[in-house]
Amino acid sequence: MPRLPIVLDVDTGVDDACALLLAALHPDLDLRAVSCVGGNAPLDDVVRNTLRVLETAGRGDVPVGVGARRPLLEDPVDARHVHGSDGMADLGMPVPTLTPDPRSALDLLRDVVEDAAAAGEPVTVVPLAPMTNLALFARVHPDAFARIGRLVFMGGGAQISNATAAAEFNVFHDPEAAAIVLDACATHGVEVAMYGLDVFYDPLVTDADVEGLRALGTPVADLAAGLISYHHRRFANAGATIGDAGAVAMLLLPDAVTTERLPVRVELTGSWTRGRTVVDTRDWSGHLDHDPHGLAPAQVHVALAIDGPRVAELWLRTVRGEVG
Ligand code: BDR
Ligand code: CA
Repeated sequence: MPRLPIVLDVDTGVDDACALLLAALHPDLDLRAVSCVGGNAPLDDVVRNTLRVLETAGRGDVPVGVGARRPLLEDPVDARHVHGSDGMADLGMPVPTLTPDPRSALDLLRDVVEDAAAAGEPVTVVPLAPMTNLALFARVHPDAFARIGRLVFMGGGAQISNATAAAEFNVFHDPEAAAIVLDACATHGVEVAMYGLDVFYDPLVTDADVEGLRALGTPVADLAAGLISYHHRRFANAGATIGDAGAVAMLLLPDAVTTERLPVRVELTGSWTRGRTVVDTRDWSGHLDHDPHGLAPAQVHVALAIDGPRVAELWLRTVRGEVG
């Protein structure tokens, strides 16, 4: 199978780190670049954490672009209460020796997307964070955005929320950005999939898995164990989700995730619902004369069910070094 060229956009982030490990180490993925955005942690922490993970994975060859510090309209509100004071589980890791790419995240995205398209292998872009960088990319480099092969984002949910009663964190953090990206995908005909909270919590790694990783003792296994056990302690349970890593796994195991192509809009104005992804699950093939809104232009492959154990096992096998 040819390796799939991908780019990750991250706010590392405990589960972004899990996703970076999978993307950096799985032999069927060709990680061409990573762009960073403020989200789970402030931007400088996100960049440091991202470089730490890539260094641990031995992937100093992957360029890391520094992107947006804050959402398009609002002030940033990080999630260090979930991810630790350094944004990545407070593992006491050393300062990375790797440094970011001199190009901005937008220029790096442009170069990677255009090079891949020119070579006839369009890149899959995987945002795992507020989509500020991708919205700016769509506005600043629309021709390059149009050459994205596919966009698979972690965010939103058809039925489940976390940041507020209505909204998921990544979309809530920058709703305008998410709306711009969905609109740009519809305008340019870029296929888009949403790996949201309906499936996010299902691939679980257990305490016993963590013990197995610690026993291996490799730098990657130690990091993976530290990330997962942080969540075990933080939420006082014996099974932690691999979170964002599930969206990367979806590229490798498409038949493990059940999706439905549905119209999706982002709520931008509701007092209590701002940032909600409004997933239209009606039988909208019928008669819509009395719906003043009509169908959303963005038709999104929404993940609605997942084989969690299979996805978690893929992640574990990869960080244990058993895939290759
Ligand atoms: C998303 O928000 C962050 O906490 C995680 O990294 C994930 O991308 C889940 O709502
Ligand atoms: Ca994230």
